[in-house]
Order: sequence, then structure tokens, then C-alpha cells
Amino acid sequence: MASKRALFSGKLGVILTTVGSAVGLGNIWRFPYITGENGGSAFIIVYIACVILLGIPAMLAEFSIGRATHSNPSDAYKKLAPHTPWHWVGKLGILVGVFILAYYPVVSGWTLSYLFDAITTKLTSYTGDYGQYFNQLATNAWMPLIWMVVVLLLSHIILCRGVQQGLERVSKVIMPVLFVLLIIMAVHSCLMPGGPSGLRFLLVPDFSKLNAHVVLMALGQAFFSLSLGMGCLITYSSYFKEDINLGKSALMVIVLDTLVALVSGFIIFPAVFTFGMEPQEGAGLAFIVLPGVFSKMSVSFLWATLFYLLLFIAALTSLMSIHEAILSYVTESWQMSRKNASRLIVLVLCVLGVLSSWSFGPLSQFKLFGLTLFDSFDFITSSVLMPLGALLTSLFVGWKLKKQWFINQLTNQGTISVPLANFFWFLLRYFVPLCIFIIFVGKLLDV
Ligand code: PHE
Repeated sequence: MASKRALFSGKLGVILTTVGSAVGLGNIWRFPYITGENGGSAFIIVYIACVILLGIPAMLAEFSIGRATHSNPSDAYKKLAPHTPWHWVGKLGILVGVFILAYYPVVSGWTLSYLFDAITTKLTSYTGDYGQYFNQLATNAWMPLIWMVVVLLLSHIILCRGVQQGLERVSKVIMPVLFVLLIIMAVHSCLMPGGPSGLRFLLVPDFSKLNAHVVLMALGQAFFSLSLGMGCLITYSSYFKEDINLGKSALMVIVLDTLVALVSGFIIFPAVFTFGMEPQEGAGLAFIVLPGVFSKMSVSFLWATLFYLLLFIAALTSLMSIHEAILSYVTESWQMSRKNASRLIVLVLCVLGVLSSWSFGPLSQFKLFGLTLFDSFDFITSSVLMPLGALLTSLFVGWKLKKQWFINQLTNQGTISVPLANFFWFLLRYFVPLCIFIIFVGKLLDV
């Protein structure tokens, strides 16, 4: 089986596909609104601490598991710990992937709808309230579903072309363009009248805003944004060649992902303050505030088109990474062809997507623990299951496997030197599980 599996072509492919997975709606849509809701800069400091101290070791653990086994998450645990229940951690990851894709394609569909409206200038020539504009789309029973199906089919078509020809190719073209555009937009936004207030909101910490909830949200956002704790990076690293430097790749992905999140904040908050809106707008931030910003720029439709095109492609590359993780499991474990497995997955996701999308409209009264279905899928994946997945993965590598195994993975069997390898192993064995555990307990006591 292993010899038939695809591999990414080289280093650039590894970085850009993995960054393609990491950089997505989580950075450009979710990070700014979660930051806004949780006290701005104080949240960002906790977030960055989580990324460095927990994200790096957790990513190295997943990269090691994937590259060492060249298998889907479930088989990877099976190979490393045969005849033990650890493979359930891999399977849990796949299930988490399904839950994320219960709502992620809905939001990706919104971006596609906005892109369409931007191209036809409907978006930027609108003179009413953009809050209403967004609500009209989100609460509509059918339109978001049509866009969602388009997104899922696109992902299906690309993935059916294969790992190198589909996934890697798309990421290589689009990710560099995304970076350049984000920077241009951030500079433009920071020069607006609300620039200083926006930057102050992001950069001057107010520690009185910190509490267990904020820390849990930061932890969840870090795992979500880095695509950790659900087997996606195990799948991607199963396509890495043996000479890939795992440490350097992880560092690169983490730096780029965090920069994109921060730069998205630099785009959105100055604009929020310029137009006298509240930073706590919530999930509608990128869909309500930004159109207002674009409509006031010259050649507005062009800016809006470029932004929603990029947001959409960032969303698509992340969506494909989760789709690919589920796909690798279904094809290899259930012995299905890639095409049929993907068809089945798309079908299941369409049903779940209806539930998420309708939780803004026909099902808005239906709540689980006080949350709509859409919010439940989001909360349970990013704040509960992904940290739990990362906890179990770190326990697996830190306690079940040998220290030498991990060091061998990082140093490519001793052929390259990785100065902090021991330190990362220490973090993985003690610090990561302990922190995630304490944060969970803290949150439980808080309620
Ligand atoms: N990291 C992606 C984002 O920021 C989301 C994602 C989560 C992708 C989990 C893969 C796995 O949007």
C-alpha cells in the first residue's frame, strides 16, 4: 500500500500545501471576530503563547507520526502501536474532520456568493445596511446551500485529480498571491482614520479581560488555525518525502499562519473603528464590515472581488485538506476508489451542511446547550475535540513512543541537527498535556 501512495514533490510543495491547510477562514474570518469578542490584544498574547509553546510541539508530533508511517491517521496509530486502542485517536480525528466540514463549507459558500456579487458589482453598489445584506444571504433557505454544494464539488474535482496534480498545484499558485494581497489591504486599512484605534485594540494589552474562557478560546483558535488535533497534518505529512526537515517546515507554517491572522486583524479592526462599528460584531465581521470598507474605495468592485476571491481560495485549500484527511481514511480503510469515497463524503457533508446553514434560518430556534447547530459544530470541534485530540497525540508521542523515536524523526535519523529537539520532546511529554488539561479543568470550574 505504502509504495502506491502519492508524495508531495518537494519542500515548496510541503510548505505551500500545509500553509494552504493552515491559512483559511480560521485566520481571515474567525481570528478577527474571536479576538474582537475576547478582548483584543490580551487574547492575542495568549494566542501567540499557545501557538509557540503548544502549537510547535503538537505540530512536530503530527508530522512525525505521518511521515514515519506514510498512512492515514487511523492506520498510522495502528502501525506505531499495534493491537492497542490508540487507533481510535486517529478515527476520532476523522470524525472531528466531518464535524468541521459540517459548517466550514457553509461559510466557504458565503464567500463564493460574495465573490459573485462583487464581480457583478451588486455588492459594492448596495446602498443599504450590510448587516441586512449578510442576513438576507445567511437566513435564506436555499442560496447558501447552492453555493455550499458548488464549493464541495470543486474540492471533489480537485482532489480526484490527485495529491500532486490537484492539491499541491492549486496551493502553489494561490498562496503567494494571497500573501501579497493581504499586505496591500492591511497597509491601506491602517492608513484610514480609524487606524490608530484599530492598532491600539490589537496591540495594547488589557489583562483585566483575561479569564479561563478567553484562554480556552485562544487555545481552541490556535489548534483550529494550525489544523492541529484532528489528523489533517498526519495525513499531509504522510505525503512528505524522507528528506523533509520537519522542524523547519513546522516553524515556517506556524510563522506564516500567525502572520496571516495578525495581518487580517490589521485589515479588519482599523476599518471597524473607521466606520464606528463594534469590534464584538461576531461571525459577521468579515461579511458585514469589509463590504462597507470596499464600497468606499475607488474601483471598489475590484478590491472586493480580489478579497473574496482570495478568502474563498484560502477557505477552499483548508477545506480540501480536511476532505483529503477523511478521503485517505475512507479509501484505505474501506477499500473504496478515491472517486467513490469522495462522492460518499460529499453526500454526507451536504446533509450536515443543511443543518448548519438552516441554523441561521428555519432551524434558528433549535439549540444544543444554548448554541445553534452551527455554533455547536464550531465550539465542539475547536474548543473541545481538537484540544482533546492534541492532548491524546502528545500523550502518545510523549509517553507511548520512545524519546529516541521522536528525535530520530526530527533529525531525519541523525542526518541533520535540530538544536531544540530535546526541548520539544520535553514540551510534548510534560508541558503540552499539562497545559491542555489545566485549561480544560479551569474552564469547567469557571462555569
Ligand atoms: N486551519 C484551517 C483554518 O484556519 C481550518 C482547519 C482546521 C483546516 C482543521 C484543517 C484542519 O481555516
